[in-house]
Amino acid sequence: MSNNLIPPESIRTWVGPFKDADVFTKSGQQTFNILKEYANISPSQTILDAGCGCGRVALLLLHFLSDAGKYYGFDICPEHIDWCKKNISVSFPDFHFAHVDVKKKLYNPNGKYQLKEMTLPYSENMFDIVYAHSLFTHMVDHEMKYYINELSRVIKPTGTFYASYYLINSKTAEGVRKGTASFNFTHSIGECYTFDPENPEEGIAQSETFVRKIYDNCGFNIIEPIHYSDWDRIGIPDQDFIIAKRIK
Ligand SMILES: C[S@@+](CC[C@H](N)C(=O)[O-])C[C@H]1O[C@@H](n2cnc3c(N)ncnc32)[C@H](O)[C@@H]1O
Repeated sequence: MSNNLIPPESIRTWVGPFKDADVFTKSGQQTFNILKEYANISPSQTILDAGCGCGRVALLLLHFLSDAGKYYGFDICPEHIDWCKKNISVSFPDFHFAHVDVKKKLYNPNGKYQLKEMTLPYSENMFDIVYAHSLFTHMVDHEMKYYINELSRVIKPTGTFYASYYLINSKTAEGVRKGTASFNFTHSIGECYTFDPENPEEGIAQSETFVRKIYDNCGFNIIEPIHYSDWDRIGIPDQDFIIAKRIK
């Protein structure tokens, strides 16, 4: 990958601790490896990157997708999408980026629309695979529910859905209660939890029971087991992830 296709530090650091460009690239590679190993992402697929940020994973797909493959990414943050359009789509026209202009305090304070007015700009049954890395870790419960329902509309029957979370279950709740978890998700908001009640979007953990219910209601079948990361221990920031299939 050439260096001019790495976003500047000012944009990279919005999506994680990526002051160092190599750390950014390596972390994208790790997520891409998970998608290959567990979600069977393949070169001829039509792919949706939900909450794509500044292309951390998209950049790894540039030379992976074949001529038949197509990439679509959306994000709420206009700066990410501007950078991706200007730096990626210009040379790779099969990489499409869309700004979802929903108002959200930290990410898009000047957004034009309320969540309930948002429809993703894609047709039904369009995608073979949808992935959402570290998206639902920045959404409250009702927002996540709305997005998963929309994603179930645009994914093909039997299509694959990867999403990462901090899941609250009996094991992680115990770590949070004892103060031994990597994140202090002690404040509850509806069905979810945050470590920052002033700005919950900074980091959100979802109740596993609630997530399972949403998948069920939206026609997603979870491929068990869920992949748990052990973030309930200090020093493990990795997220849990779920692979699911859209039921026919
Ligand atoms: C931690 S970053 C992860 C970015 C990217 N998925 C990655 O793995 O590098 C979270 C992303 O979610 C986006 N986001 C947060 N809420 C969103 C929403 N309601 N709709 C679309 N994107 C959202 C943010 O703008 C940000 O780019």
